Amino acid sequence: MHTSETIHPDQMEGHSEFAFRDLGAYSRVEQREVSVTVHTAESNMTFWYIAPGMLRIACKLKGDSTAIVPTEALLPYMPEAGWKVSEYSDRLELQGGLYRIVMDKSSLTMQIEYAEQKNCGTYKLSNAGSLVRFNGKMLEDAAIYGLGETTGYLNKRGERYTMWNSDVFDPHVPDMESLYQSIPFLIQHTACGSFGLFVDHPGKLIVDLREEQDAYSIQTENGEMDLYVIAGPKLKDVVSGFTNLTGKMQLPPLWSLGYQQSRFSYMNQEEVLQLAGTFREKQIPCDVIYLDIHYMDEYKVFTFDPVRFPDPKGMIQKLKTMGIRIVPIVDPGVKVEQGYEPYEQGVDQGYFCEKPDGEPFVGNVWPGASVFPDFTDEAVRQWWGALHRFYVDHGITGVWNDMNEPSVFNSATKTMDADVLHQNGGNVKTHEDIHNLYGMLMSKATYEGLERLLGGERPFVLTRAGCAGIQRYAAVWTGDNRSYWEHMELFISMGMNLGLSGVPFTGADIGGFMHHASGELLVRWTQLGVFTPFFRNHSAIETRRQEPWTFGDQVEVICRKYIELRYMLLPYLYSLFHASTLNGLPIMRPLVLEYPDDPRTFQLSDQFLLGADVLVAPVCRPGKEVRTVYLPDGIWYDFWTEARYVGGQHIMANAPLETLPLFVKAGAVVPFTSVRQHTDEARWTNLNIHVFGLGESDGQYDSASGEFSLYEDDGISDAYKQGASSELKINFEEKGSLATVNCKIEGNGSDADFKTLMFTFHALSFIPVGIQGISQLHSPEHLEEQRAGWYYDKQDNHLVVKLTFAGDAGFEFVIEG
Ligand code: GLC
Repeated sequence: MHTSETIHPDQMEGHSEFAFRDLGAYSRVEQREVSVTVHTAESNMTFWYIAPGMLRIACKLKGDSTAIVPTEALLPYMPEAGWKVSEYSDRLELQGGLYRIVMDKSSLTMQIEYAEQKNCGTYKLSNAGSLVRFNGKMLEDAAIYGLGETTGYLNKRGERYTMWNSDVFDPHVPDMESLYQSIPFLIQHTACGSFGLFVDHPGKLIVDLREEQDAYSIQTENGEMDLYVIAGPKLKDVVSGFTNLTGKMQLPPLWSLGYQQSRFSYMNQEEVLQLAGTFREKQIPCDVIYLDIHYMDEYKVFTFDPVRFPDPKGMIQKLKTMGIRIVPIVDPGVKVEQGYEPYEQGVDQGYFCEKPDGEPFVGNVWPGASVFPDFTDEAVRQWWGALHRFYVDHGITGVWNDMNEPSVFNSATKTMDADVLHQNGGNVKTHEDIHNLYGMLMSKATYEGLERLLGGERPFVLTRAGCAGIQRYAAVWTGDNRSYWEHMELFISMGMNLGLSGVPFTGADIGGFMHHASGELLVRWTQLGVFTPFFRNHSAIETRRQEPWTFGDQVEVICRKYIELRYMLLPYLYSLFHASTLNGLPIMRPLVLEYPDDPRTFQLSDQFLLGADVLVAPVCRPGKEVRTVYLPDGIWYDFWTEARYVGGQHIMANAPLETLPLFVKAGAVVPFTSVRQHTDEARWTNLNIHVFGLGESDGQYDSASGEFSLYEDDGISDAYKQGASSELKINFEEKGSLATVNCKIEGNGSDADFKTLMFTFHALSFIPVGIQGISQLHSPEHLEEQRAGWYYDKQDNHLVVKLTFAGDAGFEFVIEG
């Protein structure tokens, strides 16, 4: 514990601000086919045009900036040719693609424009010894987003972060400048547009948005700065552009979207089976149980403890019949023990990270003295991946990577020593140079290994550590939070900024990891969790247990209801996941992504959108029965009561314990399925597509429209990559006394020739009198019996339409009022 002595005036070292200075006088410009290099007395910087909207600027103090190799964070790319250079007495003008850079020759300040986007920033590089600093002008009313997994609120302006993957057990509070993931990608956003900036740098890096009001700085320590400017002008263009550079999430198996239960640790196989039995007995849906470190024999990865888990295969088989999968934890630390195969093999092959003297680096983690695979080497990744045959042979298809910063208990830096060497595909680097890549490369080895072993089944990997591009291999959970209301709220901003940083599949430990949950906290956190992409309840050893039934009937009933809602929403959610694999956009979205011109969304940190049209406003304080909610432009409906609101205002939403404030936009198309106990049963056979109408026509809003692409495949295999999938593109439009639904079917994955679909229209602005080709039924019961028909419930203003259609045809129907 620290006391006030920490800030004793006599002990303060004072601000030893380094003297940063310009990179020396301009000397010359050199043009090559695909790049332009500007030389100064003490540095050189090279410009490449990578793709539409994407510019790279690499700077090196000593040596050749063209020799800086992009890291594994990025997908391979080919720069485009065709630079035009104009040199004037006072300035240089560089034209690459639609980018235009004007550099002042005396100050070396650069102004960057892209096509019509006249302002993609004003920048200047400077240095102090090997520290390189990049200064960018901050627009007066700009908000800053991105930066991956960080504490604080949605808008990062005024904060400072150090990108250095760290195992942070202390509470995650705003003073924590580093967590487990490092993504130095920031977006500057104003109502006029957005642009992004990414630094491809796996060593320590500081992003300072605090020191100056109208500028920010990014600082590296190794004499290099490798930057990418990503133009907008739309916020969505910037996010998608960044994922063109760092890759998209691969479609996960459907089961990984289900509810998941974890604890450090479920101690033995009886406890695990009993836990699974309780879920089924209590009819609380669940897809996954996690095995934390106690499943292993002396914490040795690729083993099961023979006493606690005498028959893991049998257990896993049994669980499989119940629709529950096991995901075991796998840490990078391999116990030093003669005769333990992974250790012996790795030593024989020289696969562990070594100190400069050629001896393996040894550090303490759970098993005691351990060695660490050098995941920067392809041969090591292949070997590590192949070791997962052990799990696959047990019937396991998902793995949880933890401690992969890597965390080392007994070292002063709490990670590997700075001078540890990494083979890095022949381009040897010290650990200090590539620290932030380690976690991602472990997940890459794991994902690719499982992919090779599973023969067409989709792997699932969950990771704690990572860097830009981690979405290509793993889902991310945000590490050791606590059962604090503040930590529940913290994830809303964290999840949104991770999403804007290219990482859509994220979640926090629901209920909190350390400290002790209460029933009320668990209810509120489960309500939030339903709408977060990754939905897992996890808690630490010696904390109060927090399975959904631990706090009595009321808590259990509410948790069940919300977990059921998650399963009902799966068609909507899975379709959003699929869309994200193509466009890189987040699933859990800040409102600013959909309403980028509305300054009232810029700081909105305690509510979010699931996709474009479902607005979630979690309750993050005890004892609250109401909360304010900002509804942006449009007409919105309270999901529970269907009360209608005109957007562009704050409202007070009713929020007793059993109610999570939830709103759906007029025009929204949200497909639901029926509740199942696990996703193996949850194909979209029982669809009910909810459509939200205009409610009433007034001067401001006289029409409502929306669309949704409902995606479907087998949920488990990679056959979708060969086209075994289908999409139902649903378009809705309501105007005057007509509402039209148009559906197009694409793909060939539908296994049924005929499908029955239900549509439920909420709040149309007129009373329906007819739908051509579909007959009216006079009671809801008739809908059950008939293949097609419609029924109007006047009291609730619900119109239910049932139709059956051939699998390969599109269809349209018009509701007349
Ligand atoms: C770390 C993980 C936590 C896990 C524990 C034991 O603290 O973050 O989730 O339960 O290690 O493996």
